[in-house]
This record gives sequence, structure tokens and C-alpha cells, in this order.
Amino acid sequence: MKTLRVELGDNSYPIVVGAKLLDQVGEMLTPHIKSKKVLIVSDAFVSARYMPAIQQSLETAGLDISTVEVPTGEESKSLAQFSRIQDSLVANQLDRGSTLIALGGGVVGDLGGFAAAVYMRGIPFVQIPTTLQAQVDASVGGKTAINHPKGKNLIGAFHQPKLVLIDVGTLETLSQRDIRAGLIEVIKMGVIRDQALFEMVEENLDAILNLESATLIEMISCACINKAEIVAKDEKESGLRMVLNYGHTFGHALEALTHYNRYRHGEAVSIGMNCAAQLAKNLGMFSETDFQRQGVLLRRAKLPLTFPPDITPEALCDAMYLDKKTLGGKLRLILPTRIGEVVVRDDIDDRHVLEAISQCF
Ligand SMILES: NC(=O)c1ccc[n+]([C@@H]2O[C@H](COP(=O)([O-])OP(=O)(O)OC[C@H]3O[C@@H](n4cnc5c(N)ncnc54)[C@H](O)[C@@H]3O)[C@@H](O)[C@H]2O)c1
Ligand SMILES: [Zn+2]
Repeated sequence: MKTLRVELGDNSYPIVVGAKLLDQVGEMLTPHIKSKKVLIVSDAFVSARYMPAIQQSLETAGLDISTVEVPTGEESKSLAQFSRIQDSLVANQLDRGSTLIALGGGVVGDLGGFAAAVYMRGIPFVQIPTTLQAQVDASVGGKTAINHPKGKNLIGAFHQPKLVLIDVGTLETLSQRDIRAGLIEVIKMGVIRDQALFEMVEENLDAILNLESATLIEMISCACINKAEIVAKDEKESGLRMVLNYGHTFGHALEALTHYNRYRHGEAVSIGMNCAAQLAKNLGMFSETDFQRQGVLLRRAKLPLTFPPDITPEALCDAMYLDKKTLGGKLRLILPTRIGEVVVRDDIDDRHVLEAISQCF
């Protein structure tokens, strides 16, 4: 078991990464909470599989528990589900010192986190992420949100959790496709700032995909430490945190063009990272060797590298301008200079962007 700390002054909190943590949630939580009332938000799948153990552990610790179950899937990041959670918080008389626990993937984390951020202007919040995506990315950093019909994550708030509990055992029920898609955020972290983490994934890919606990704990801790360091320097995303968007401007555009139902987020980001790396290589910023090295790892992880034939480079480029990460109408791109370092550029001509996209079909 490893314990890390996200250093954010008064908002600092621990992240505990280990195996078989779910049975100990009660005792691990008690030191971090003020009142006995707890609301657990989860989705239908995760709730059926993991809620009983957690409920038992919380009851043994003497906590007063209520639960809200939302349907699985991105559609639950909605005002309707948000409202249901508020109703439950009110009905069960949770007060300012009560805790909301989000048990599930990034959807439940974002939705539950946002509900906790605004109920009584903010109540304590604990994350128990159960997908690799959520364990290495969504649960760290305090971004919470729901979707608007016109766009993803348009309604949200920054709200840091009091505690994040990561049990790698929960990954055993996740599909290989979701494991691979979550792994992209780790590989991304390696490319943007941690060559050793990138090498660790290269060397241990089989153990990771076979879900060997010790390797997973090491890798997830390392990814979380990196994200925590970035968040500590830029809690509200005013600058440095932008680097986390490596591959994402292309990836978000692809997800939007394919109506969010063809690719996992991580798969779209994988194609986006390949395209950003291609662009950096074309501009003479990124070596052929490093470009190939990233490509080889993505292929070994069975992640896609190329855009689908039914979209055009022009449509993708247009969709990139609609991403909310553009600044004053300019595309902001995160481009690698070597494995372990990226730069933020907003001066790249569309001609070059289009050329790189065209090379990735
Ligand atoms: N807040 C942030 O910083 C941040 C960062 C990245 C992504 N996100 C958000 O995260 C969401 C995506 O997260 P996600 O990929 O975890 O999606 P998700 O929460 O929808 O989970 C994916 C699927 O896996 C299932 N699942 C969850 N845990 C499982 C387990 N242990 N075993 C088997 N199945 C399990 C879920 O029921 C769901 O069907 C998006 O809404 C995205 O916007 C947020
Ligand atoms: Zn991502």
C-alpha cells in the first residue's frame, strides 16, 4: 500500500493506493470525516459489484449511510441525475459536515464531486475510483462537472476531495479495452514529464495488462504523483495544467465528430497523441526515434494510432477550434520535444496541423 499527498495548502489530501482496500474503507475514512452521515453515489454496475463490501465496512465503523445509484454511462453526467443526488442529500438530512463518497469511474466521480461541490456551498467529498482512467486521472485534481446538451463538462466546479482510495483489485472486473484506454493517460504522463514512467510501462506492459497488483500499485502511484505535482502548481488550470491536454485537442475533436459513442476517450487520445507527435516531428521539434518509440508502445498496448476513413482532416481541424481549450480563437497545442518533455504552442499554422492530421489516416 502506498500513500501520497496532493499538496494544496488547506485543500491538501492523501491518495491511498493498494489492494483489498474496500473492506477497510470504514476505518480508513473515519479519521478524515467530521460527521457520521455519508451518502454514497455509484452507478448500477459498480454498485451491484462493490457496494455491499463498502457498506458493510462503513456500517462496522458506525457510520450512517444512504446511497444513490445512477445508470451507467456518460448520460448520467446530467442535470437530472445531479438533481436526484441533491434530493437524496436533502431527504437524508446531510449537513455541512457530512460526506459524499463517489464510488465508480470518472462519470460518478465528476457527477458526485459536482453534487458535493454545490450542496450547502460544498461538503466533504471522497473518491473511490474503480476504472483505471479514474484512478490515474479523473480522481486527482478536483475538477468536477456534468454535461450540457451542447457540450461536455460545461457545468462544473473545482472541489478537492478529502481522500482518494484506490483499490487496484477493482480493475479485475474491468474490460481489457477499458484497461488499455485508461493506460493511455499513464503513457501520456510519461511523454509529457516522466521518462522513467514511460520506460516503466514499456518494460512492464504484460504485467500491467495482466493486472499484477504490485506493478499496478507502483504505476498508478507514479501517475498520481505526477498529476498531483502539476495540480499543486496550478490548482485552477491557469497555465501549467494545460500540458495534461497532450493529444486531447485532437482526441476531443475526434470524440465529438464520432458522437462520443465509437471510441473510448483513451482511444481517441491515443490517436491524438500520435498526431501531435507527427506534427512535432514535421516541425523538427521531436526526433524520428522518439516518434517511433511512442508509436511502438501505443501499438503494443493495442491502442489505435490513425483516424477513421469516414472523417476528413478539415472536419477534424474545424472541430478542434470548437474545443473549449482554444484560447482567443487560437489553437493551443501541446507538442512533445522528447519523451519526458512537452511545450505549449499557440502559433502553429493550420496548414501544418492539417498536414499532420492527413498523415495519420
Ligand atoms: N475530472 C477530471 O479531471 C476528469 C479527467 C478525465 C476524465 N474525466 C471524466 O471521466 C469520465 C470517463 O471516466 P471512465 O472512463 O471511468 O467512465 P465511466 O465512469 O463511465 O466508467 C466506464 C464504464 O466502466 C464501468 N465500470 C466502472 N468501474 C468498473 C469496474 N471496476 N469493473 C467493471 N466495470 C466498471 C462503468 O459502469 C461504466 O460502464 C468522463 O465523463 C470524463 O469527462 C474527468
Ligand atoms: Zn484524458
